Amino acid sequence: MKFGVCYYPEHWPQTRWPQDARMMRELGLEIVRIAEFAWAKLEPTPGQYDWSWLDEAIGVLAAAGLEIILGTPTVTPPAWLTRAYPEILRVDANGRARDHGTRRHTCPNSPTYRQFSRQIVRAIGERYGSDPRISGWQIDNEFGGGGTARCYCENCAAAFRDWLQARYGTLAALNDAWGTIFWSQTYTDWAQIRPPSDHIDKKNPSHVLDYYRFASDSFVSYQQEQVDILRELAHGRFITTNFMGLYRDLDQFDMAETLDFATWDNYPTGNPERWRPLLYPPGADAKTNNPLYAYDVGDPMVTGLAHALTRGLKNAPFWIMEQQCGHINWAQFNPGIRPGTPRLWTWHAIAEGADTIVYFRWRATLFAQEQYHSGLLRHDATPDVGYHDHLTFQADRDLLDDLARQPITAPVGILFDFADLWALQLQPHRQDFGYLRLLYVYYTTLQRLGIPVNLVPKTADFTPYPLLIAPTTHLADAQLASKLNDYTQNGGTLLLGVRSGFKTTSNLVTDEPLPGALRKLVGATVTSWQALPPDVGWELETAVPHLHGPAGYWLETLNAQTASVLATYKPGGAAALTEHKVGNGRVLYLGFYPTNEQARALLLHLAGQLGLNWLPDLPEGLVAAQRGPYTILLNFTEQPISYPLNGQAVLVNSRDVAVIRR
Ligand code: GAL
Ligand code: ZN
Repeated sequence: MKFGVCYYPEHWPQTRWPQDARMMRELGLEIVRIAEFAWAKLEPTPGQYDWSWLDEAIGVLAAAGLEIILGTPTVTPPAWLTRAYPEILRVDANGRARDHGTRRHTCPNSPTYRQFSRQIVRAIGERYGSDPRISGWQIDNEFGGGGTARCYCENCAAAFRDWLQARYGTLAALNDAWGTIFWSQTYTDWAQIRPPSDHIDKKNPSHVLDYYRFASDSFVSYQQEQVDILRELAHGRFITTNFMGLYRDLDQFDMAETLDFATWDNYPTGNPERWRPLLYPPGADAKTNNPLYAYDVGDPMVTGLAHALTRGLKNAPFWIMEQQCGHINWAQFNPGIRPGTPRLWTWHAIAEGADTIVYFRWRATLFAQEQYHSGLLRHDATPDVGYHDHLTFQADRDLLDDLARQPITAPVGILFDFADLWALQLQPHRQDFGYLRLLYVYYTTLQRLGIPVNLVPKTADFTPYPLLIAPTTHLADAQLASKLNDYTQNGGTLLLGVRSGFKTTSNLVTDEPLPGALRKLVGATVTSWQALPPDVGWELETAVPHLHGPAGYWLETLNAQTASVLATYKPGGAAALTEHKVGNGRVLYLGFYPTNEQARALLLHLAGQLGLNWLPDLPEGLVAAQRGPYTILLNFTEQPISYPLNGQAVLVNSRDVAVIRR
């Protein structure tokens, strides 16, 4: 288990560095991340590098006993580069180019930007790649941050056409895959194809989905150029990047594939404010916080899901590359943070699978965009709340070390697929139908039962999970069907949700009876589907304990062929939930969008059959995580909570943690 901090030596006089480094060590930090925005200072004029200050900074920090993570500074090209080559600028869907003065204002498909990026990365790699004081590398910073994952420039238009040629081979195949006969979209020359910019009214969802895939692949390949250079020059030191939790615009599984491990930037009072509207039922999202939670802790369910997704990227322990340690500056309310809260966030991250925490940032900046953002030190260099909180970890160090070595073993997997997410984002049909929102019903239900869950991509090995939940696997093909079939043949229980198998992977509706490619596996067909207006629902008839109607929001009636029927709608009697024996396992299809209570009833039913353990009812605001032999209880409310565990009452104070060895 290690702790560290993000530091910007270029923001402070050189004479201050030794004192900062000494204070970091005194606080018990071992890692410092530097340089990810320092391109202009490293290459003040084209091809002329100034290493002197970075040499000095590395020297000072390492002499104090700190390991160094170097960032590649490609997120912020210098003004000379931007001005000499305006074609590197990112163009938004309205055709407007970004300008210098911020970050992420570049296009990943600009050959010029790529060339300059490779040059600076090679130069830094050659300078520091074999330096024993550097323990690893962060590539760029928050790819896609600030809504920049998709660029609509001419470079992208050309690269998109190449990408399409590689994917479809012929124009005929592309025209078929997109259904371009509709509204005379038919392309007769590759050159006619452009990105789906905002100049197109009512876009073709197949065209847009491919553009989203292409944009994601563009960052994968942009990042890979840096990975390749650093693999060559950094002599086995780790390479990673900092992801953004529930960020949706890049396929994070693809991005993580060639990295050594995943990290994410955890801002618990900011991120949930952005993500809650995507996760809670409409209306409930209006509040930026749940009143049951303490006002400065954020939303632990939301933060927990982001931890789980990041852990799922490599199915391995991860880092928090930037951990909020006081107030932030970019959300709506930016509440002040009280003593105990940063500590709670750190415990939460470790409980959910982190093994390294790097705080953002060392000292609050005196200038520029982030003046109102806190650090471990205040503007005047005196300790702030996060600093004081961190001191508490000194006493817990052995426990933390042991905890961070423990694996997280989850008996339940939830399938997570970015293309499914994008397809439903493009055509929710019912406006508030969201991929994440549906997934969140299952996630929170499992959390409230204390059952650990992993988020797994379609490419993962499903066999470790006795129960695999696909809230919706909307895009399906024969390959996925056969993989899921193998999983169930070998004893897995697969729970499929509404809208599964509705479409092909190119975002056309299947011409087979629903659920399309998954039909044989399900042993039943979907005979009708519909969205329901709010407050309308159908009653249910079922022997599954505690599963009650009304079933609303989205309904599908099923007709079982080889499956058995576990629930029906009344009146009418159409099947609402089916179960199909497949080899040693089975496939359930849930024909309606469950409420939390309905999901809970069904999951308890399955958990009981599968012999999974769950915890006594967790009160809202008390989070339980399991890591190795430990159960970690975290109280995110203002009140102490007493909770029964292993036959005794465990008292967890407000914004405090209890770690119990089973
Ligand atoms: C992150 C970013 C940092 C800093 C921070 C402020 O998204 O990576 O550079 O801007 O937010 O909260
Ligand atoms: Zn572009």
